[in-house]
Amino acid sequence: LELPPFVDPLPVPSVPMGTPSPRKLRITMREIQSKIHRDVPPTRMWSYGPTPLGPVIEARSDHPVEITWVNHLPSKHFLPVDFSLHGSGRDLPEVRTVAHVHGAKVPTQYDGYPTDWFPSGQSKTCRYPLQQESATLWYHDHAMGLNRLNTYAGLTGLFLIRDQVEDALNLPSGPFEIPLILCDRNFTTDGQLFYATSGDPDHPWIPEFTADGILINSKLRPFFNVEPRLYRFRVLNTSNSRFFGLALDNHQPMIQIGSDQGLLATPVEQKFFALAPAERADLLIDFSHLAGQTIHLRTGAFDILQFRVANQTSSAPLHSIPKTLRTLHRTPESSATLTRTITLNEHQDRLQNPMVMLINNKHWHEPTTEFPKLNTTEIWEFINQTEDTHPMHIHLVRFQILDRRTFDQFELMTNKKLRFRGPVEAPAPNEMGWKDTIQCPAGQVTRVIIRFEGYPGKYLYHCHILEHEANDMMRPFEVIA
Ligand code: C2O
Ligand code: CU
Repeated sequence: LELPPFVDPLPVPSVPMGTPSPRKLRITMREIQSKIHRDVPPTRMWSYGPTPLGPVIEARSDHPVEITWVNHLPSKHFLPVDFSLHGSGRDLPEVRTVAHVHGAKVPTQYDGYPTDWFPSGQSKTCRYPLQQESATLWYHDHAMGLNRLNTYAGLTGLFLIRDQVEDALNLPSGPFEIPLILCDRNFTTDGQLFYATSGDPDHPWIPEFTADGILINSKLRPFFNVEPRLYRFRVLNTSNSRFFGLALDNHQPMIQIGSDQGLLATPVEQKFFALAPAERADLLIDFSHLAGQTIHLRTGAFDILQFRVANQTSSAPLHSIPKTLRTLHRTPESSATLTRTITLNEHQDRLQNPMVMLINNKHWHEPTTEFPKLNTTEIWEFINQTEDTHPMHIHLVRFQILDRRTFDQFELMTNKKLRFRGPVEAPAPNEMGWKDTIQCPAGQVTRVIIRFEGYPGKYLYHCHILEHEANDMMRPFEVIA
């Protein structure tokens, strides 16, 4: 499929208004048809709104939002459901959904626990207290056994929290603050979404799915008209499995000002950075010296978005790059009262379904083993015994990364001994802020320090490669009051 690039303008998602304080929103999941490219017929998708981009929810710290999530989807799925996965039997309604606001500090009953799904025709009202700092959050489906397909079908959206610290920085806003929601999709020759299977109709689950078509704000290789000035981009990777390495084709640095859970301490200039599934980057790009030029955002050698820089700026005030962003205290290791060792493993199961991914060699449905106490601090060390990087996400909390260290995989497998083979590696500058999803590379121990704040109750942690999560790299934990 040879399609001419940069023929479609970049769509910018809408912001829903709702009622003022306490803000109440109604978000309806539905089937839509959308054009991914000028020359491709409309594609069937599922969305949280009338267009393929779910509405951007804009909220303020400490100002609660109430959302009624309505499942108005058809009762049959259009992607290959695996009925053999845990929690996905043929006795259940075939289309199940539950929305999770990724990165929000939320009481357990509103967090989108995978088994709290509801079928087509039903709805659920959730209250989000938002007692947390400004951050780039997002929402997506989390239904047991289905969320990799529901997310692939399109059930994602951006959720921004703002606060006074951010206001005081006078960052680019309005038409100069733009979401960039990236994901990969494959399409059939008639332009419909394609999701691969194992070939076994009884066990269609596949361990990973990366596709060649890169959508930005729901378009294939769009263009975006910018003025020669500073812009702010909220970059989010909603792919099931794909990691994006991002760069500009003129090798100009991008200035990262925030990560998953909000602003960094100071801006970080980088010519390249990698974004795992579910990770976010809050970026500034300066076009001011590029009047009349065209540059591209690229991943690998492939240009995915074209910026067309105008000759002149409008009369709107210009913005500058702040020197410092916010005070960020590093959590001292000595404040942790407990260290948990968490292994990431891959297993050959039975012949028909050759692989499962596990955490601590346990399945999702086995009894809870992690019971952190509310208002205590713990260190979690993820020991990755597989050959993939796993982006691990923990619900409810934000955390800081302490370090990573390479260990001897063979020694651990054969003699059950953890022997390090390399020096302690400090986190990269753009990982020094608050995170909720962390890349755990193969053959390394990745250590994070977590304060369990907010609410007691049942939560979960999992790999954000959605195929891994479904089978079965997801475990419950329970915060004890
Ligand atoms: Cu992005 Cu458990 O979720
Ligand atoms: Cu994984």
